[in-house]
Amino acid sequence: MPKNFLEVAVEIAQEAGKILVEELARPLDIRYKGDEVDLVTQADKRSERFIVERLTKHFPEHAIAAEEGTGHESASASEFRWHVDPLDGTTNFAHGYPCFCVSIALARRDTLLAAAVFNPVHNELFAAARGEGATFNGKKIHVSKNATLSTSLLCTGFPVRNRKASPNLQYYGEFTQCSHGVRRDGSAALDLACVATGRFDGFWEFGLQKWDTAAGVLLIEEAGGKVSDFSGNPYKLGGPVVLATNGLIHEEMRAMAMEISRRAPANP
Ligand code: IPD
Ligand code: CA
Ligand code: CA
Repeated sequence: MPKNFLEVAVEIAQEAGKILVEELARPLDIRYKGDEVDLVTQADKRSERFIVERLTKHFPEHAIAAEEGTGHESASASEFRWHVDPLDGTTNFAHGYPCFCVSIALARRDTLLAAAVFNPVHNELFAAARGEGATFNGKKIHVSKNATLSTSLLCTGFPVRNRKASPNLQYYGEFTQCSHGVRRDGSAALDLACVATGRFDGFWEFGLQKWDTAAGVLLIEEAGGKVSDFSGNPYKLGGPVVLATNGLIHEEMRAMAMEISRRAPANP
């Protein structure tokens, strides 16, 4: 029987994860994409080469959008597109901080169908298929049941490009003061996966790319959470801001974010 989309995504994410662990043990070869904070390593490139090759072998007619630019458009007029982050958390990886992952998602037009996020250091696999729920290492997961912002643990991230233009420090400070705290783990895909498992109650970030969020968004939706922009419109992949929560604190977080935006207009 041919493998389904999720099985393939999981298998490839786990294999790519092994590559990252191998690369972690080797001397680092860091290159800079723009300024001195936007890194790329041989691990990003090797992982992406592997993922693109394997996806193309399984689904030659699908398009692949991959962060390091080695993806391709579909050979035919396929509606299927894979969103691939071969190493999410490159800065962590480059400093030996074990918080990074492989993130792979499949969308058909605007509908996310399958998602796999794999942290190879802790051997943590987060997976979801549309309509079939989300799992963590094979067990069904659900977002947290925390219903108030004041007792919530939140997470956010900061961009590596245009750092000074990011409005996020203001949001970071204010959300820190009215919650149990705001973590900044450095891997948006894992941050979103942690909302899906209930470790975090909410997450927001400006300026994320499609490959950062595609898998995490499906994980959260399938785990019963909610994903939107600050105005409450459904989040569009690659949109300027993402707000992802357990659903219960969504309105409270959203209202507070809007209030901060009014005082400190965002221009990400
Ligand atoms: C980055 C991480 C980080 C987020 C940055 C992303 P990369 O992705 O997800 O958490 O704050 O905005 O660019 O470069 O490590 O794949
Ligand atoms: Ca990323
Ligand atoms: Ca990356």
